[in-house]
Amino acid sequence: MGNPVFLALDTPDLTRALTLAKAVEGHVGGLKIGLEFFCAQGPEGVRQIVALGKDVFLDLKLHDIPNTVAGAVRSVAQLGVRYVTIHSSGGPAMLEAAVEAAAGRVRLLGVSVLTSLDEVDLAAVGQMGPSGVQVERLAKLAAKCGLDGLIAAPPEIAPLRRIMGREMVLMIPGIRPQGSDKGDQKRVMTPEAAMAAGADFLVIGRPITAAADPAAAAARIIAALKAGAVS
Ligand code: C5P
Repeated sequence: MGNPVFLALDTPDLTRALTLAKAVEGHVGGLKIGLEFFCAQGPEGVRQIVALGKDVFLDLKLHDIPNTVAGAVRSVAQLGVRYVTIHSSGGPAMLEAAVEAAAGRVRLLGVSVLTSLDEVDLAAVGQMGPSGVQVERLAKLAAKCGLDGLIAAPPEIAPLRRIMGREMVLMIPGIRPQGSDKGDQKRVMTPEAAMAAGADFLVIGRPITAAADPAAAAARIIAALKAGAVS
């Protein structure tokens, strides 16, 4: 089994990010950095994370006119990261421009409906109806436009896998090992259950980064995944 865990380095601090990444080096398959890190450390900071030799997922959630997003994707493709996120709600022209700009040098993951939005928030921005319908609509659009995968919440894994087949990569945050603190995550799944439901990769932050011994916490997650116990 390849290691499916991407460690979320949710910090603006380069030294902290590098220290955490090195501490768990043998126990995670990849590293995720997002806007907080990118806005503080820029492309040079990203290059330093890439230089650690793991697959890097740059969570930028791009969303703009097609020409601008294509330019951003071309810039990202120079950084050596493996995955970058893009809002599927940017529409077909934006998604197709991004796919063309990526030219296979970086893999594009579609973001559908942010899990921080409930039905009241969605209605406030003009989206009526259940968010699950919108998630499926955007997933199909992402696939049609040639994106490589989707970032999705745990309850969406099984339905998306049914719709998408094995083609699309499913990258899943909101993961909590048995017995760990949920924090602000509401709809969580254990690593084993998420993999059993059809996830390809798991984004895990605080259960590892906030542990007294991050390496041991990551090692326990991998041991549970290898045991394959679904709970
Ligand atoms: O610490 P935790 O495991 O909750 O971190 C999860 C990571 O996944 C964070 O970087 C967070 O921004 C990201 N994420 C999330 N839920 C989403 C989308 C992204 O937790 N729906």
